[in-house]
Amino acid sequence: MSPTKPASVTTSNDTNAARRDTLSITDNRTGKQYEVPIQHDTIRALDLRQIKVNDDDFGMMSYDPAFTNTASCISRITFIDGDKGILRYRGYPIEELAEKSTYLETAYLILHGELPTRAQLDDWTYHITHHTFIHESIKKFLDGFHYDAHPMGMIISAVAALSTFYPDAKDIFDESSRQKQTWRLIGKMPTMAAFAYRHTLGMPYAYPDNELSYPGNFLNMLFRTTELKYRPNPTLERALDVLFILHADHEQNCSTSAMRGVGSSQVDPYSAIAAATAALYGPLHGGANEAVLRMLLEIGSVNRVPEYVKHVKAGEKKLMGFGHRVYKNYDPRAKIVKRIAYEVFDVMGRNPLIDIALECERIALEDDYFVKRKLYPNVDFYTGLIYQSMGFPMTMFPVLFAIPRTSGWIAQWQEMLLDPEQKIARPRQIYLGYETRSYIPMDHRS
Ligand code: CMC
Repeated sequence: MSPTKPASVTTSNDTNAARRDTLSITDNRTGKQYEVPIQHDTIRALDLRQIKVNDDDFGMMSYDPAFTNTASCISRITFIDGDKGILRYRGYPIEELAEKSTYLETAYLILHGELPTRAQLDDWTYHITHHTFIHESIKKFLDGFHYDAHPMGMIISAVAALSTFYPDAKDIFDESSRQKQTWRLIGKMPTMAAFAYRHTLGMPYAYPDNELSYPGNFLNMLFRTTELKYRPNPTLERALDVLFILHADHEQNCSTSAMRGVGSSQVDPYSAIAAATAALYGPLHGGANEAVLRMLLEIGSVNRVPEYVKHVKAGEKKLMGFGHRVYKNYDPRAKIVKRIAYEVFDVMGRNPLIDIALECERIALEDDYFVKRKLYPNVDFYTGLIYQSMGFPMTMFPVLFAIPRTSGWIAQWQEMLLDPEQKIARPRQIYLGYETRSYIPMDHRS
């Protein structure tokens, strides 16, 4: 069973007495044979170390740049079957959660492993709602940024700065401290994001409103102007909540691996989340939603799509929002996002870029280049259109990914901390550089 398969798929070797869950390896350099155990369809890389040519040999390693076939942890949080296009949090299909849950409930599920009872959800919501305010000094800190600073840069810095306000966060093995930092992080991320947005507009910051829902309050902090009480549009509020559910976790992606890797040094969670947010910022990861919109604007009209696709096939450009390391089928999140887009357009008016996006998708899904490589729309393909229709500038798109991913990052970080098998992350390398050389004085160098 691979670590990404659900526990129920496990097959027992009791059904076949002759079968042994081991892998036999013959080293043709020495003729020696080895037998290494297989568990969950996986061998332990350290079991390869016994394979040596002689006693001085360090032992065999596996080489896996970009970790395309290496499991770095055992996890019980998120399951993806990339070939079938399945995504589940703690066993619950993403489609059901998107239809029936809320982001805060889903965040609870991801972090605690079970859906909350009414009392647990009320308590969870109360604590997060009562940790939405940020220290006034963080406000001053944000004020220091240039007016056109990218909000992701501001968020990365602000969340790192939070660690200086909460030194108790260093007690990472104290459960109550972890709980408190979790409330703070989930509560404050939308506030810092909204403040970063208002800073770029030169607008006064709008403070949290505890009577609103998590996404409703976020919309309030972003868009409130002179009204005494901000009332979010229920369709937009729900759309944002569902988008938050879809982005809450996605197992061992680049930013989550950063969270686990940095967290494995036992640093506080704010510093680790700053690292994870930085990883998310890149255009191949959470920055892809921004890159998709820029691409659609660059294409400009439906009749220019074939020309753009030609450049993609020639390897000169990428079709942003397409392809995924794990999904070799339609990203299940993208299907839901596409539906939400139309709900948002009903309120805000149809985003004309949708026609370009649909044409890109139509051509790509029929074209051999994309079919052969199993390139399908991913979650980022349609989200940018929704965010733009809701009034967000492009630079805010990755921030809208970082806010909900915070719950997933914390859950993965906590799982890593409590896993007795985990240690500080420290990959090996294959060194192909120079052997020892003697220092060359300056006047002897050519
Ligand atoms: N447009 C054109 N060709 C592509 C694309 C694309 N978007 N994605 C992959 N390919 C090609 C790639 O050139 C390669 O072709 P060849 O075999 O001829 O060299 C083949 O498909 C396999 O791609 P890869 O780069 O080896 O795949 P990967 O698993 O290393 O990369 C990816 C995954 C998501 C980084 C990549 O598909 C990509 O850059 N997509 C565009 C950026 C994007 O949308 N990112 C958001 C990912 S979903 C949100 C998240 O979880 O972060």
